[in-house]
Amino acid sequence: MEKRETFSSRLGFVLISAGCAIGLGNVWRFPYITGKYGGAAFVLLYLLFLVILGLPVMVMELAVGRASQRSIAQSFQKLEPRGSKWHWYSYIGFAGNYLLMMFYTVIAGWLLYYFIKMLRGDFTGLDADGVAGQFGDLMGRPGIMTAFMAIVVCIGMFVCAQGLRNGVERVNKVMMLCLLALMVVLAVNSVLLEGAGEGLRFYLQPNFRNLVYDENGSWILGETIFAAMGQAFFTLSLGIGAIAIFGSYIKKEHRLAGEAIRIGVLDTCVAFTAGLIIFPACSAFGVSTGEGPALVFVTLPNIFNHMALGQLWGGAFFLFLSFAALSTVIAVFENIISFTMERWELPRKKAVLFNFIAVLALSMPCVLGFNVWSGFTVLGMDVSGVEDFLVSQNILPLGSLLYVLFCTSRKGWGWEKFLEEANTGDGIRFPRAVRFYVSYILPVIVLFIFLMGYWNLFGGK
Ligand code: ALA
Repeated sequence: MEKRETFSSRLGFVLISAGCAIGLGNVWRFPYITGKYGGAAFVLLYLLFLVILGLPVMVMELAVGRASQRSIAQSFQKLEPRGSKWHWYSYIGFAGNYLLMMFYTVIAGWLLYYFIKMLRGDFTGLDADGVAGQFGDLMGRPGIMTAFMAIVVCIGMFVCAQGLRNGVERVNKVMMLCLLALMVVLAVNSVLLEGAGEGLRFYLQPNFRNLVYDENGSWILGETIFAAMGQAFFTLSLGIGAIAIFGSYIKKEHRLAGEAIRIGVLDTCVAFTAGLIIFPACSAFGVSTGEGPALVFVTLPNIFNHMALGQLWGGAFFLFLSFAALSTVIAVFENIISFTMERWELPRKKAVLFNFIAVLALSMPCVLGFNVWSGFTVLGMDVSGVEDFLVSQNILPLGSLLYVLFCTSRKGWGWEKFLEEANTGDGIRFPRAVRFYVSYILPVIVLFIFLMGYWNLFGGK
């Protein structure tokens, strides 16, 4: 097996792990889910889940990765007590990475396509309906969608083929810094738009009734809580070993709670700023906040249409959004490739080639789901909705639960070993005092919300 690489710097590790976390979940999924479930009150619920569920799970994943120095292919095997079966989960986790990429590469392709459209001036002079029409037009063109999805897959695999330091670390570091700077500029611009007030109130002033009832007065509390939990796990990429892999590339200089907080705070800042860009624009340009997956694609071009040099700003912004998505794609590809290398003892280049073909093929159902297969729905969800639901509401929370049980149970890796790993190095300690909470209460919360979500989905209220 090839020698395991490590990051060249701590900044590299934090920015890449944050890059794995920061992505479509922040700039595309967070705004539209927040719009769908009623704004500020939903944001509060999501933040609560990030802190009480997301952070502890992130520390655990990093600890499993760092202690085992392996990807999810072998990390459980390396740490579990002899004869136990925790490692069976590695295949489900591996599948979770694929499932995530099956729609992620397609949406990332839309961003790249919008980057080109922006530069070409395709939106110039269009009103809000005209902008929405452009999105509808893209949905009806599977050829374009396939081409841009393929470009995303090619870029991601090419970077991974260069290795950890030369490829993944170098590229992601620059992309993340550019994105953060431009988002702040755009948020200021958006908040200052005429008519921004209503959108800002929707986003920042909680109305708890919105958590309980939708606009038709139907009871949606269970669904809302389920969605907030799913978003918390989605945004941190937890439960499928995608964060653990970066734990496996670091040394033991810093305690893991501090690293997890850094990653979580960066991730939350980006999501929050994305909301500050999108929601004021919704009210300023009369776009419905409940627009769904199209939200970002119908609000943003409107913003740029009303800015001096909008074409240029718009082009740059869609480029950086593509970077955010790509940084996740690269991170998850790295996990998939690392899994393939360890599991089948392949050199990196062969693992890249195999996964390149697999991801391309597996992304096609999502492309077709927006047009040729648009008649296919399950419980009202189209292909991308089903894929997103399976991964965000199922594999990520249940995988996270498995990491928690592994790190707290005597039948797994166990609390003491986990704590020792998490607290090796300098920085913030993972407190021993939360043992009862993480061992018993956290798993019950996740399971309860999970079961309640299913109950609601199948018609129980
Ligand atoms: N954590 C990744 C994102 O937010 C999956 O896009």
